[in-house]
Amino acid sequence: MTDVGSEGVGEWSRRRVSRRGFLGTASGVVAGAVAGAATVDGVFPTDATAATAAATSHGQTEPFYGIHQGGIATAPQAQMMFVALDVTSDRRQEVAELLRAWTSVAADLTSGRGEPAVDHGLWTDVPNDEEVVEVGPARLTVNFGFGPSLFGRGSSDRFGLTKDCPQALVDLPAFPGDQLDPAKTGGDLTIHACADDPQVVFHAARQLVRVAEGVASLRWSQTGFNEQLASHGTPRNLMGFKDGTVNPAGETELAKIVWVSGAEPAWMDGGTYVVVRRIRLDLDEWDNTSVATQERIIGRHKRSGAPLGRSAEFDALDLSAKDADGDPIVPLDAHVRIASPQENWNNAMLRRSYSYNDDALVASTSSEYEASTFDAGLFFVAYQQNPRLAFIPIYAELAERDALRRFTIHTGSLIAAIPPGAQRPGNWIGEQLLNRG
Ligand code: HEM
Repeated sequence: MTDVGSEGVGEWSRRRVSRRGFLGTASGVVAGAVAGAATVDGVFPTDATAATAAATSHGQTEPFYGIHQGGIATAPQAQMMFVALDVTSDRRQEVAELLRAWTSVAADLTSGRGEPAVDHGLWTDVPNDEEVVEVGPARLTVNFGFGPSLFGRGSSDRFGLTKDCPQALVDLPAFPGDQLDPAKTGGDLTIHACADDPQVVFHAARQLVRVAEGVASLRWSQTGFNEQLASHGTPRNLMGFKDGTVNPAGETELAKIVWVSGAEPAWMDGGTYVVVRRIRLDLDEWDNTSVATQERIIGRHKRSGAPLGRSAEFDALDLSAKDADGDPIVPLDAHVRIASPQENWNNAMLRRSYSYNDDALVASTSSEYEASTFDAGLFFVAYQQNPRLAFIPIYAELAERDALRRFTIHTGSLIAAIPPGAQRPGNWIGEQLLNRG
């Protein structure tokens, strides 16, 4: 039986991260290096309006230890980086050791305990934390996930994990209109880092990728941002609409919609599943569309975020309401109508999307655009209890008949199982799966 869980989490952020060092020192970690870390019972703030203004949050921490991993029910931070990696090792024990190391490093990074490396001459292998030392953890959260390919889906069962693959973790089907770039799609392992400072996010992601050297290599990454003035509540996306209004909030809804519990397999208890889609937006065409038409496409008022025909953002969406001519107030092809739980057997998800802007799209390289523009859009991130009941059927409908689809191109995609959190120092993320025989 593989057992790497009995040694405490420790000094990974202070040690050599080369493959040699990684394997050579795995058994010598020092317990207690994470003493003082906040331990919580999985209760996270869920109200987007409680998000702390970025300018004042640099010294603030979010809990790392808990029943669930962080950055899911956490009030959204302003910045994010999503990283997908491929496992290059063929040894399960090395994957387990990597997860244990990641847990330790993430606990340090999110707590803000990282100290500056003062003597680079002697300690060339010590992570350089100076780049964030005065920036603070800025509410940094990190979570880790497992793609279907880790379980041998579509390839060989190199880690003996196929028997443990959850039924909910299926490869996403091809959807109408998909133009997926393999360089932004799939991966064996995922890291989702969010904070209120872009440098803190990048530092965390890069240190974690560095720790993986020799075991897993970078496949692709994506940065994202959110406008964030806490006083305004739900952030607006690049289309100018509030995005994230209808989301589960509070433990009861999260338990029903987000967290896996009692379902197969037991190692996922307290976990969830993430689906990400990199969605390029035709913002120029959108800006040439009248606000009235935009509102009919989304099904909500642009300024207030209220459902069409209502006045406040959190007013209920009434899909049966008709105007004076007897036509539905929320059009039949409006985005929120088709995506609504009312139209989807009450299935829902927790959306935690970020805007992105990557590069110029030069006209000659893209037949989709008549003029050069930005490769910008929405990095859609949704956590859910079962993607086979939530994202997959809901997006299958949207891809067929959503009025919004003529402004969107899906260029990247990933699904992953997000295992439960590490409950206390000494536990590590993924141990329920990887520590089994
Ligand atoms: C670029 C693409 C997208 C944009 C700009 C967008 C934008 C929006 C906006 C503005 C809302 C209304 C406010 C809110 O409740 O958050 C909304 C709602 C929603 N969207 Fe999207 N969305 C996009 C893609 C998707 C995708 C791919 C899905 C996948 C299933 C999705 C699922 C939903 C759901 C479930 C709701 C809540 C519907 C309700 O119950 O009222 N969206 N979206």
